Amino acid sequence: MVLTDSLRVEELPPEERAIYATLKPERLPEHVAIIMDGNGRWAGRRSLRRFFGHQQGAKSVQLVTETASRIGLPWLTLYAFSLENNLRRPRTEVNFLMRLLKSYLESNLQRMMDNNVRIRYIGRTRELPPEVQDKMRWAAEATARNTGTTLTLALNYGSRSELVDAFRALHAEVEAGQVSADRISEEDIHRHLYTAHMPDPDLLIRTSGEMRVSNYLLWQIAYSEIYITDRLWPDFRGVHLLEAIAEFQRRERRYGGLSESVGEVEEDPEQIRIAAG
Ligand code: FPP
Repeated sequence: MVLTDSLRVEELPPEERAIYATLKPERLPEHVAIIMDGNGRWAGRRSLRRFFGHQQGAKSVQLVTETASRIGLPWLTLYAFSLENNLRRPRTEVNFLMRLLKSYLESNLQRMMDNNVRIRYIGRTRELPPEVQDKMRWAAEATARNTGTTLTLALNYGSRSELVDAFRALHAEVEAGQVSADRISEEDIHRHLYTAHMPDPDLLIRTSGEMRVSNYLLWQIAYSEIYITDRLWPDFRGVHLLEAIAEFQRRERRYGGLSESVGEVEEDPEQIRIAAG
């Protein structure tokens, strides 16, 4: 379901509009999640320091978000900073990413408003530096009433720690007698995830060719279509988002069921032949 009220297809650049014209509007994904990878390699190939790759990556974030908002994509969730990045990268790089995030929010707020984008976050954001949290709160509050695309930045995010947080919250409900342990359902787990307010991603994109999900939205991507491109994140643009959506529309989603082309299923057990082993 696209956000028809905020569709601004006429604002797409010609190259993007040409791909958009090939899409089936009734089969657009509702939620696209992206693992933005390759900033360091992008810089390395140009003999630049890694920081330049992140800076260029922040430009891609803005351009991709604007394309998403023009096509009325309801949810776009970007893996901007993982728990593992926080723990395992040199402090200088982590500090740079924090400064970049602050300046990104500050300098793009007006563009977010012009594009009717609402900003939100998932992750253990309370562990981020206080001045970064202040800026994040400021951007979320300023855009809270926008009704177009919700851009969710996963920051200090790890899927396993999200599940740990969910199980702790659920355990507290069991202790308080609000939920009985033997009746815990998938829905109970879902409502304690950071993403409880959004649908699961239909499409997961990963840039720079790695075949991994890197602790990203593990519960939520159970039935997502996965699209991996060799393109490095700083080179990824709106046109590439639309190409990924075109590929998504060529896939058949079965959710564990059967293809429509299978037709009637033979139900006579006598017909079943088990190969002798
Ligand atoms: C991976 O590149 C990317 C990240 C560490 C996170 C993504 C960060 C950005 C796009 C920059 C800023 C984002 C915002 C929202 C302002 P990498 O360094 O792992 O690349 P490599 O695998 O080539 O080394």
